[in-house]
Amino acid sequence: MVQITFEGHPIDVAPGETLLQALIRARTEPSYSCLAGLCHSCLLQAQAGEIPPAAQSGLSPEQCEQQLLLACQCRPVEPLQLQRPKTLKRTDAVICGLQQLSTEITELRLATRAPLPYHAGQHIDLWLGPYLSRRYSLASVPGLDGDLVFHIQRVRGGQFSDWIHTQACEGSLIQLGTAQGACCYSPEQSTRPLLLIGSGSGLGPLHGLLRDALNQHHRGQISLLHLGKSPLHLYLQEEIRSLCDQHPNLSHHPLVGTSDDLAVPLQSVLTHWDSRRVNAFVCGSGELVKEAFSQLRAAGVPDHQIHTDSFDAY
Ligand SMILES: Cc1cc2nc3c(=O)[nH]c(=O)nc-3n(C[C@H](O)[C@H](O)[C@H](O)COP(=O)(O)OP(=O)(O)OC[C@H]3O[C@@H](n4cnc5c(N)ncnc54)[C@H](O)[C@@H]3O)c2cc1C
Ligand code: FES
Repeated sequence: MVQITFEGHPIDVAPGETLLQALIRARTEPSYSCLAGLCHSCLLQAQAGEIPPAAQSGLSPEQCEQQLLLACQCRPVEPLQLQRPKTLKRTDAVICGLQQLSTEITELRLATRAPLPYHAGQHIDLWLGPYLSRRYSLASVPGLDGDLVFHIQRVRGGQFSDWIHTQACEGSLIQLGTAQGACCYSPEQSTRPLLLIGSGSGLGPLHGLLRDALNQHHRGQISLLHLGKSPLHLYLQEEIRSLCDQHPNLSHHPLVGTSDDLAVPLQSVLTHWDSRRVNAFVCGSGELVKEAFSQLRAAGVPDHQIHTDSFDAY
């Protein structure tokens, strides 16, 4: 048993228990979502004590320097003194647009007083009040879009996404963290084949990335494979068709099915391309990311050219 102190309250962490489990047991109402080290909702800050290395896996050097840690990945081995992060930079934003893209997906538009630095395809933590945060990918492109745009898929009973779908209204306030992530287009890739694979609202960051690439005059072939559990999860089809009409190097493959149905369309795209030159971006469910990564690797796409953002654990 290790005793930690959370905002002044002593709490015992049982052997094998994570810090998050102990905080939930002690009814401290911690913020969390994925339980897998992905969403960063459970970030805490250590004021004293040794942080186990696994608790900082996936954090940026700046976050590590600030003694931040992920409670869901932390199994303390010695006493720690902890608090909710006080030094995280947050920017105030106001909801300036809400639009149903389909019954399951809402486009959220946020305005900030000063422009927030980001690249298309990155993600950002959205805070609703001091304790509830979720991570969402940007669908907007700096320089092309004035607002910050997100595509939010409804998770029934989900604290954040249900709020967006049922209660949020123009004028509601949200706070933003800083943009992070490396699912971004670089002009050095301009002659390579670009493969964009997404499921559900995974289309959001890919739509931003796609418009960013076209805006930077991408010359190689581009294929966008969008997988939806049902036709309700396929959206923006007309807009993407119109981009295809304007850009002969772009093809769009909407598909109703699960990640098991990815193999055939993926192979039919890759037969025409030299796999070793492909730059691939995969965003959406953990299952899709896992399946696409293994198929791309098997087809000969080098690992470092496969960029992924998993929206949930797999
Ligand atoms: C890097 C990253 C980028 C992301 N970008 C986006 C994005 O652009 N658009 C978007 O819609 N989401 C995105 N997500 C997912 C998002 O952060 C939330 O996890 C999701 O919206 C659910 O949050 P919630 O508060 O509504 O549900 P919660 O209250 O966290 O969960 C409620 C229940 O739903 C389950 N659940 C949680 N997430 C999912 C899921 N994705 N599918 C099915 N069940 C789930 C939980 O296990 C729980 O049982 C991203 C996640 C990550 C890590
Ligand atoms: S709950 Fe810890 S990173 Fe998601």
